[in-house]
Amino acid sequence: MCKIITRMISRVLYISTLVLTLLILGVSSTVTENKGASFGYMGTHGPGEWGRLSPEYSECAKGKLQSPLNIMKTKVVRSKIFKPLTRNYVPANATLCNNQFNIGVKYEGDAGSMEVNGKTYSLKQMHWHSPSEHRLNGVRYPVELHLVHQAEDLSLSVVAILFNYSTPDPLLLKIKEKMEELSKEVCAGNEEAHVPLGILDLKLLKKNTRKYYRYVGSLTTPPCYENVLWTVLGKVRSISHEQVAAIKAPLKSDCKNNARPCQPLNGRMVELYEDLSRN
Ligand SMILES: *[C@@H]1O[C@H](CO)[C@@H](O)[C@H](O)[C@H]1NC(C)=O
Ligand SMILES: *[C@@H]1O[C@H](CO)[C@@H](O)[C@H](O)[C@H]1NC(C)=O
Repeated sequence: MCKIITRMISRVLYISTLVLTLLILGVSSTVTENKGASFGYMGTHGPGEWGRLSPEYSECAKGKLQSPLNIMKTKVVRSKIFKPLTRNYVPANATLCNNQFNIGVKYEGDAGSMEVNGKTYSLKQMHWHSPSEHRLNGVRYPVELHLVHQAEDLSLSVVAILFNYSTPDPLLLKIKEKMEELSKEVCAGNEEAHVPLGILDLKLLKKNTRKYYRYVGSLTTPPCYENVLWTVLGKVRSISHEQVAAIKAPLKSDCKNNARPCQPLNGRMVELYEDLSRN
Protein backbone atom coordinates (compact mmCIF):
# COMPACT_ATOMS: atom_id res chain seq x y z
CA MET A 1 0.00 0.00 0.00
CA CYS A 2 1.40 3.38 -0.95
CA LYS A 3 1.62 6.13 1.61
CA ILE A 4 1.91 9.81 1.09
CA ILE A 5 4.96 11.01 2.93
CA THR A 6 7.06 14.10 2.98
CA ARG A 7 9.35 14.72 0.09
CA MET A 8 12.53 14.16 2.07
CA ILE A 9 11.51 10.85 3.58
CA SER A 10 10.10 9.70 0.28
CA ARG A 11 13.40 10.41 -1.41
CA VAL A 12 15.30 8.25 1.07
CA LEU A 13 12.65 5.56 0.77
CA TYR A 14 12.75 5.82 -2.99
CA ILE A 15 16.49 5.29 -3.12
CA SER A 16 16.46 2.40 -0.67
CA THR A 17 13.53 0.80 -2.50
CA LEU A 18 15.39 1.24 -5.75
CA VAL A 19 18.51 -0.40 -4.36
CA LEU A 20 16.47 -3.21 -2.82
CA THR A 21 14.56 -3.78 -6.04
CA LEU A 22 17.74 -3.86 -8.07
CA LEU A 23 19.27 -6.34 -5.63
CA ILE A 24 16.23 -8.60 -5.57
CA LEU A 25 15.53 -8.57 -9.30
CA GLY A 26 19.14 -8.36 -10.35
CA VAL A 27 18.22 -5.85 -12.99
CA SER A 28 20.56 -3.07 -13.91
CA SER A 29 18.51 -0.61 -15.91
CA THR A 30 15.10 0.65 -14.88
CA VAL A 31 12.44 -0.22 -12.33
CA THR A 32 9.59 0.26 -14.76
CA GLU A 33 8.56 -3.38 -14.69
CA ASN A 34 4.86 -3.06 -15.39
CA LYS A 35 3.66 -6.63 -15.73
CA GLY A 36 5.53 -7.13 -19.01
CA ALA A 37 9.05 -6.03 -20.00
CA SER A 38 9.82 -2.39 -19.37
CA PHE A 39 9.52 0.03 -22.24
CA GLY A 40 9.93 3.74 -22.76
CA TYR A 41 9.87 6.38 -25.45
CA MET A 42 13.60 6.98 -25.94
CA GLY A 43 16.74 5.10 -26.90
CA THR A 44 17.07 1.34 -26.44
CA HIS A 45 13.57 1.00 -24.94
CA GLY A 46 11.91 3.40 -27.39
CA PRO A 47 9.01 2.67 -29.79
CA GLY A 48 11.31 1.44 -32.59
CA GLU A 49 12.61 -1.30 -30.25
CA TRP A 50 9.36 -2.39 -28.57
CA GLY A 51 8.94 -5.47 -30.80
CA ARG A 52 12.36 -6.74 -29.69
CA LEU A 53 11.93 -6.18 -25.94
CA SER A 54 9.77 -9.26 -25.38
CA PRO A 55 8.18 -12.03 -27.50
CA GLU A 56 4.84 -10.76 -26.14
CA TYR A 57 5.45 -7.43 -27.86
CA SER A 58 6.02 -8.85 -31.35
CA GLU A 59 2.88 -7.21 -32.76
CA CYS A 60 4.48 -3.80 -32.10
CA ALA A 61 6.93 -4.62 -34.91
CA LYS A 62 5.02 -7.12 -37.08
CA GLY A 63 1.42 -5.92 -36.80
CA LYS A 64 -0.29 -4.51 -39.87
CA LEU A 65 -3.16 -2.75 -38.06
CA GLN A 66 -1.16 -0.55 -35.71
CA SER A 67 -2.00 2.77 -34.05
CA PRO A 68 -1.76 5.74 -33.93
CA LEU A 69 -2.43 7.13 -37.41
CA ASN A 70 -1.98 10.43 -39.12
CA ILE A 71 -5.57 11.06 -40.25
CA MET A 72 -5.55 12.92 -43.57
CA LYS A 73 -8.89 14.63 -43.98
CA THR A 74 -8.79 14.32 -47.79
CA LYS A 75 -8.34 10.52 -47.56
CA VAL A 76 -11.09 9.66 -45.09
CA VAL A 77 -14.30 8.06 -46.33
CA ARG A 78 -17.34 10.04 -45.32
CA SER A 79 -20.08 7.74 -44.07
CA LYS A 80 -23.44 8.48 -45.67
CA ILE A 81 -25.25 7.68 -42.48
CA PHE A 82 -24.44 9.55 -39.28
CA LYS A 83 -24.27 7.14 -36.38
CA PRO A 84 -24.35 9.20 -33.19
CA LEU A 85 -21.70 8.21 -30.69
CA THR A 86 -23.71 6.44 -28.01
CA ARG A 87 -22.08 6.74 -24.62
CA ASN A 88 -23.73 6.44 -21.24
CA TYR A 89 -21.26 7.16 -18.50
CA VAL A 90 -22.33 7.05 -14.87
CA PRO A 91 -20.56 8.74 -11.96
CA ALA A 92 -18.19 6.13 -10.53
CA ASN A 93 -15.48 5.64 -7.94
CA ALA A 94 -12.14 6.31 -9.55
CA THR A 95 -8.44 6.14 -8.75
CA LEU A 96 -5.70 8.31 -10.21
CA CYS A 97 -2.67 6.20 -11.10
CA ASN A 98 0.90 6.81 -12.11
CA ASN A 99 1.51 3.95 -14.54
CA GLN A 100 5.05 5.37 -14.99
CA PHE A 101 4.63 5.50 -18.77
CA ASN A 102 1.43 7.57 -18.42
CA ILE A 103 -1.00 9.04 -15.88
CA GLY A 104 -4.35 7.34 -15.82
CA VAL A 105 -7.70 7.03 -14.08
CA LYS A 106 -9.06 3.58 -13.25
CA TYR A 107 -12.68 2.82 -12.42
CA GLU A 108 -13.92 0.33 -9.90
CA GLY A 109 -17.25 -1.18 -10.77
CA ASP A 110 -19.67 0.21 -13.32
CA ALA A 111 -18.64 3.51 -14.91
CA GLY A 112 -21.01 3.16 -17.85
CA SER A 113 -20.41 2.17 -21.44
CA MET A 114 -20.40 3.01 -25.13
CA GLU A 115 -22.22 1.16 -27.85
CA VAL A 116 -20.90 0.42 -31.33
CA ASN A 117 -22.88 -1.62 -33.87
CA GLY A 118 -25.03 -3.12 -31.15
CA LYS A 119 -22.09 -4.16 -28.99
CA THR A 120 -21.60 -2.76 -25.49
CA TYR A 121 -18.14 -1.76 -24.30
CA SER A 122 -17.74 -0.83 -20.60
CA LEU A 123 -15.50 2.05 -19.60
CA LYS A 124 -12.46 0.66 -17.76
CA GLN A 125 -9.84 3.40 -17.61
CA MET A 126 -8.56 6.54 -19.25
CA HIS A 127 -5.07 7.99 -19.61
CA TRP A 128 -3.21 10.91 -21.13
CA HIS A 129 -0.50 11.05 -23.79
CA SER A 130 1.59 14.12 -24.47
CA PRO A 131 2.13 15.15 -27.23
CA SER A 132 -0.80 13.60 -29.11
CA GLU A 133 -0.41 10.20 -30.76
CA HIS A 134 -2.95 10.64 -33.56
CA ARG A 135 -2.45 13.54 -35.92
CA LEU A 136 -5.02 15.38 -37.98
CA ASN A 137 -3.61 16.42 -41.36
CA GLY A 138 -0.12 15.96 -39.95
CA VAL A 139 -0.77 18.24 -36.98
CA ARG A 140 0.37 16.90 -33.63
CA TYR A 141 -1.47 18.40 -30.64
CA PRO A 142 -0.07 18.91 -27.11
CA VAL A 143 -2.27 16.22 -25.50
CA GLU A 144 -4.46 13.21 -26.31
CA LEU A 145 -6.80 11.52 -23.84
CA HIS A 146 -7.74 7.85 -24.34
CA LEU A 147 -10.94 6.42 -22.88
CA VAL A 148 -10.54 2.65 -22.91
CA HIS A 149 -13.68 0.50 -23.10
CA GLN A 150 -13.92 -3.28 -23.08
CA ALA A 151 -16.68 -5.64 -24.21
CA GLU A 152 -17.60 -8.94 -22.55
CA ASP A 153 -15.61 -10.80 -25.24
CA LEU A 154 -12.61 -8.68 -24.09
CA SER A 155 -12.40 -6.69 -27.35
CA LEU A 156 -11.47 -3.04 -26.94
CA SER A 157 -12.90 0.26 -28.11
CA VAL A 158 -10.95 3.45 -27.44
CA VAL A 159 -12.21 7.04 -27.74
CA ALA A 160 -9.42 9.57 -28.37
CA ILE A 161 -9.81 13.27 -27.57
CA LEU A 162 -7.23 15.77 -28.81
CA PHE A 163 -6.34 18.94 -26.88
CA ASN A 164 -4.72 22.20 -27.97
CA TYR A 165 -3.36 24.97 -25.74
CA SER A 166 -6.00 27.45 -24.59
CA THR A 167 -8.30 27.63 -21.56
CA PRO A 168 -7.98 24.94 -18.84
CA ASP A 169 -9.70 21.56 -19.24
CA PRO A 170 -12.53 21.34 -16.64
CA LEU A 171 -11.90 17.67 -15.81
CA LEU A 172 -8.20 18.18 -15.02
CA LEU A 173 -9.14 21.32 -13.11
CA LYS A 174 -11.35 19.19 -10.88
CA ILE A 175 -8.55 16.78 -10.01
CA LYS A 176 -5.75 19.35 -9.78
CA GLU A 177 -4.92 18.73 -6.10
CA LYS A 178 -5.01 14.96 -6.59
CA MET A 179 -2.57 15.31 -9.46
CA GLU A 180 -0.20 17.27 -7.19
CA GLU A 181 -0.59 14.58 -4.53
CA LEU A 182 0.26 11.91 -7.09
CA SER A 183 3.46 13.64 -8.15
CA LYS A 184 4.68 13.50 -4.52
CA GLU A 185 3.78 9.90 -3.97
CA VAL A 186 6.37 7.17 -4.18
CA CYS A 187 5.63 3.49 -4.00
CA ALA A 188 7.24 0.54 -2.37
CA GLY A 189 8.36 -2.28 -4.63
CA ASN A 190 6.74 -2.57 -8.01
CA GLU A 191 3.38 -1.20 -7.04
CA GLU A 192 2.20 1.82 -8.95
CA ALA A 193 1.44 5.09 -7.16
CA HIS A 194 -2.23 5.91 -6.83
CA VAL A 195 -4.57 8.46 -5.23
CA PRO A 196 -8.32 7.85 -4.70
CA LEU A 197 -10.45 10.40 -6.58
CA GLY A 198 -13.81 9.51 -5.08
CA ILE A 199 -16.80 9.74 -7.39
CA LEU A 200 -15.86 11.16 -10.79
CA ASP A 201 -18.56 12.32 -13.17
CA LEU A 202 -17.62 12.06 -16.82
CA LYS A 203 -20.47 14.01 -18.34
CA LEU A 204 -17.88 16.60 -19.38
CA LEU A 205 -16.32 14.08 -21.73
CA LYS A 206 -19.54 13.36 -23.58
CA LYS A 207 -19.75 16.75 -25.25
CA ASN A 208 -18.81 17.56 -28.83
CA THR A 209 -19.29 14.23 -30.53
CA ARG A 210 -20.97 15.38 -33.72
CA LYS A 211 -17.88 14.55 -35.74
CA TYR A 212 -15.54 11.62 -35.34
CA TYR A 213 -13.12 9.36 -37.22
CA ARG A 214 -13.40 5.57 -36.96
CA TYR A 215 -10.90 2.85 -37.87
CA VAL A 216 -9.51 -0.47 -36.66
CA GLY A 217 -6.07 -0.30 -35.05
CA SER A 218 -4.11 -1.40 -32.00
CA LEU A 219 -3.06 -0.47 -28.48
CA THR A 220 -0.45 2.32 -28.76
CA THR A 221 1.66 0.81 -25.95
CA PRO A 222 3.16 -2.70 -25.70
CA PRO A 223 1.91 -5.37 -26.26
CA CYS A 224 0.32 -3.39 -29.18
CA TYR A 225 -2.57 -5.89 -29.48
CA GLU A 226 -4.70 -5.36 -32.59
CA ASN A 227 -8.39 -5.17 -33.51
CA VAL A 228 -8.95 -2.19 -31.27
CA LEU A 229 -11.88 -0.10 -32.50
CA TRP A 230 -10.77 3.55 -32.56
CA THR A 231 -12.97 6.63 -32.40
CA VAL A 232 -11.03 9.89 -32.72
CA LEU A 233 -13.20 12.91 -31.98
CA GLY A 234 -13.06 15.65 -34.61
CA LYS A 235 -13.55 18.44 -32.10
CA VAL A 236 -10.26 19.52 -30.49
CA ARG A 237 -10.68 20.55 -26.86
CA SER A 238 -8.60 23.02 -24.86
CA ILE A 239 -6.04 22.58 -22.09
CA SER A 240 -3.69 24.98 -20.29
CA HIS A 241 0.11 24.87 -20.30
CA GLU A 242 0.05 24.23 -16.52
CA GLN A 243 -2.20 21.21 -16.98
CA VAL A 244 0.07 19.74 -19.63
CA ALA A 245 3.04 20.19 -17.26
CA ALA A 246 1.03 18.50 -14.47
CA ILE A 247 0.32 15.32 -16.45
CA LYS A 248 4.01 15.04 -17.38
CA ALA A 249 5.48 15.84 -13.93
CA PRO A 250 5.02 12.44 -12.22
CA LEU A 251 6.32 10.39 -15.17
CA LYS A 252 9.77 8.89 -15.41
CA SER A 253 12.17 10.88 -17.56
CA ASP A 254 12.05 8.77 -20.72
CA CYS A 255 8.23 8.78 -20.69
CA LYS A 256 7.56 12.50 -20.31
CA ASN A 257 6.97 12.59 -24.06
CA ASN A 258 4.86 9.46 -24.30
CA ALA A 259 3.54 9.46 -27.85
CA ARG A 260 4.18 6.54 -30.18
CA PRO A 261 4.98 7.72 -33.73
CA CYS A 262 2.26 7.33 -36.39
CA GLN A 263 2.02 3.88 -37.98
CA PRO A 264 1.47 2.87 -41.63
CA LEU A 265 -2.14 2.82 -42.81
CA ASN A 266 -1.57 -0.45 -44.78
CA GLY A 267 -4.71 0.00 -46.87
CA ARG A 268 -7.03 0.56 -43.95
CA MET A 269 -10.05 2.79 -44.32
CA VAL A 270 -10.68 5.66 -41.91
CA GLU A 271 -14.36 6.60 -41.83
CA LEU A 272 -15.69 10.04 -41.01
CA TYR A 273 -19.02 10.40 -39.24
CA GLU A 274 -20.37 13.90 -39.17
CA ASP A 275 -23.74 15.25 -38.18
CA LEU A 276 -24.46 17.76 -40.94
CA SER A 277 -28.02 18.37 -39.83
CA ARG A 278 -27.09 20.92 -37.15
CA ASN A 279 -24.71 23.79 -37.57
C1 LIG B 1 -14.97 4.61 -3.19
O1 LIG B 1 -13.69 4.08 -2.90
C2 LIG B 1 -13.26 4.34 -1.60
C3 LIG B 1 -11.82 3.87 -1.48
O2 LIG B 1 -11.63 2.62 -2.08
C4 LIG B 1 -14.19 3.64 -0.62
O3 LIG B 1 -13.79 3.90 0.70
C5 LIG B 1 -15.62 4.17 -0.84
O4 LIG B 1 -16.51 3.47 -0.03
C6 LIG B 1 -16.03 4.00 -2.29
N1 LIG B 1 -17.31 4.65 -2.51
C7 LIG B 1 -18.30 4.11 -3.21
C8 LIG B 1 -19.54 4.92 -3.34
O5 LIG B 1 -18.20 3.02 -3.74
C1 LIG C 1 -3.46 25.49 -31.36
O1 LIG C 1 -3.47 26.64 -30.57
C2 LIG C 1 -2.53 27.61 -30.97
C3 LIG C 1 -2.60 28.75 -29.98
O2 LIG C 1 -2.28 28.27 -28.70
C4 LIG C 1 -2.83 28.09 -32.37
O3 LIG C 1 -1.85 29.01 -32.79
C5 LIG C 1 -2.85 26.91 -33.31
O4 LIG C 1 -3.26 27.30 -34.59
C6 LIG C 1 -3.78 25.82 -32.80
N1 LIG C 1 -3.62 24.65 -33.66
C7 LIG C 1 -4.61 24.12 -34.34
C8 LIG C 1 -4.22 23.04 -35.28
O5 LIG C 1 -5.76 24.48 -34.23
